[in-house]
Amino acid sequence: MIIYFSGTGNSRFVAERLAASLKDEMFNAAPAMRAKKGVHFKNGGTFIFVSPVYAAAPPLVFMDFLRHCRFPEGSRAYFVMTCASGMGAAPDYCEKCALEKGLIYCGTAKIDMPQNILCILKLARRQTIGIRLPRLCLR
Ligand SMILES: Cc1cc2nc3c(=O)[nH]c(=O)nc-3n(C[C@H](O)[C@H](O)[C@H](O)COP(=O)(O)O)c2cc1C
Repeated sequence: MIIYFSGTGNSRFVAERLAASLKDEMFNAAPAMRAKKGVHFKNGGTFIFVSPVYAAAPPLVFMDFLRHCRFPEGSRAYFVMTCASGMGAAPDYCEKCALEKGLIYCGTAKIDMPQNILCILKLARRQTIGIRLPRLCLR
């Protein structure tokens, strides 16, 4: 199961690519996050959590959502973070969250995306987008 939160679409794009390659189901956390409700996931196995990096950490709202969820004990947890350049302390937060939920922490990976947050940062240069996007699409 791929559980994702995406503010502007980058993480959804990555979640879709993962779901297609792994032939796995996707779960969009946003509606439950908005309703401030956790979800009881009954089927164990492997969970992949996909989200953006906000200020060198996973988004607080996404971590809060995961804290309210229930997962079958002993399921594996992988975290995939999309970011502009670095994920900072995100792996520490992810590991802590997994352990709190009784999940087996299997690691955190980052995927550099074209910078698209126009309100606070400069848009990625055309050259960077040209390099990053085809790489993502070929995987
Ligand atoms: C409030 C905010 C904080 C961010 N902080 C970081 C950061 O610390 N490091 C980084 O590389 N990118 C940072 N970004 C960029 C996002 O992580 C990146 O654009 C991500 O792919 C967005 O994913 P989404 O489209 O799924 O929301 C930040 C974006 C926002 C809006």
